[in-house]
Amino acid sequence: MTKTILVVFGTRPEAIKMFPVVHALKADGAFRVVTCVSAQHRGMLDQVLEIAGIAPDHDLDLMKPDQTLDGLTAALLTELGKVMDAEKPDWVVVQGDTATAMAGALAAYYRKVPVAHVEAGLRSHNIYHPWPEEVNRKIIGTIAALHFAPTETSAAALKAENVDAGAIHVTGNTVIDALQWVSARIEAEPALAGGLADLEARFAGRRIVGVTSHRRENFGGGLEAIAGAIRDIAARPDVALIFPVHPNPNVRRVMEAELAGLDNVAMIEPLDYPHFARLLSISEIMLTDSGGVQEEAPALGKPVLVMRETTERPEGVEAGTARLVGTDRARIVTEIFTLLDDKAAYSAMARAHNPFGDGQAARRIVELLRNAG
Ligand code: UD1
Ligand code: UDP
Repeated sequence: MTKTILVVFGTRPEAIKMFPVVHALKADGAFRVVTCVSAQHRGMLDQVLEIAGIAPDHDLDLMKPDQTLDGLTAALLTELGKVMDAEKPDWVVVQGDTATAMAGALAAYYRKVPVAHVEAGLRSHNIYHPWPEEVNRKIIGTIAALHFAPTETSAAALKAENVDAGAIHVTGNTVIDALQWVSARIEAEPALAGGLADLEARFAGRRIVGVTSHRRENFGGGLEAIAGAIRDIAARPDVALIFPVHPNPNVRRVMEAELAGLDNVAMIEPLDYPHFARLLSISEIMLTDSGGVQEEAPALGKPVLVMRETTERPEGVEAGTARLVGTDRARIVTEIFTLLDDKAAYSAMARAHNPFGDGQAARRIVELLRNAG
């Protein structure tokens, strides 16, 4: 009998990391594939759905401005449960560590439907960094019947928590599949990433630093320190910072108050994935607190300074392309200036590695789902 696979996602990073799985499941033909987006994110999710050509079967449209974790989680649990009751899936597939992924796993568990977890086993071992993702991942890890670990490190973290070794599979991270897919699309159709041309012309001759920041644990003091560091970096006339600002009002408020009017800081709307891939390629350095960017930058050999105290993605640091710099203003500035001024320090970090995967993760995941009970 054809297996029904319900694929649940809701935010930009989940969509980016899940679209290769949706494409591969649909291409396989062995499954009835049902896609459900919570739309925990709206605009940023829709940007990914559009480029990936996915029209979800269910769109819960749950995003509210400045939503709270408990309000969001309660709505997710109820609404995802209804979709599961209607679709009666044999498997529910969730990705990563968002509220949508956690509530999707929990709603499936309440119906005794097995859960497959894409990007399993990431651990910082600090439940407040990243917050609330570390606990979301642990909850999903307790429920899942299949754990698709991106690396040996993440597989080992699951084994250390006594997860059945037979249920853990190292697949690579689907973000590398996504990045390769979008890079091929841009190569075939450069106009897909042509929208930065005006900014590129305006900043010609300057050294580009790409910036993203959105972590909840950095709200308040952390974000103010990050904004202060950006001001200090922008004091150098040889540098320009391109910063697609996350629409979360807690992020926007601080960045607009601190950075408006600086002529070499371009605060822009979130970029769609082809344009963000372009930003990665034109940036000399990435300055970020994002999870996904920590994985993409090493694949492209772009030094990435990670504005976090801990990381659940140590592979980028071990490969030498990523460095944890925390959220201390002076430290961020010193680290950026070292990379800008010390050629040896820069080239030591600027080597392409693929510690997170080989671009074949979705194919492996689909094979494992085909062979699962
Ligand atoms: C969420 C995830 C986080 C992930 C991040 C990726 C949780 C708890 N957090 O955090 O793990 O790293 O997404 O970006 O699941 N907003 C918009 N338009 C959008 C998206 C967001 O306006 O397209 C605004 C809304 O006001 C929304 C707010 O941002 O209420 C926060 O969105 P939410 O998904 O709750 O949190 P993120 O910080 O984006
Ligand atoms: N990204 C994007 N446009 C942007 C900023 C980021 O497409 O303007 C992509 C980026 O390439 C990565 C993902 O979004 O794949 C990371 O998402 P985010 O930083 O929101 O979440 P996290 O990875 O921290 O959970």
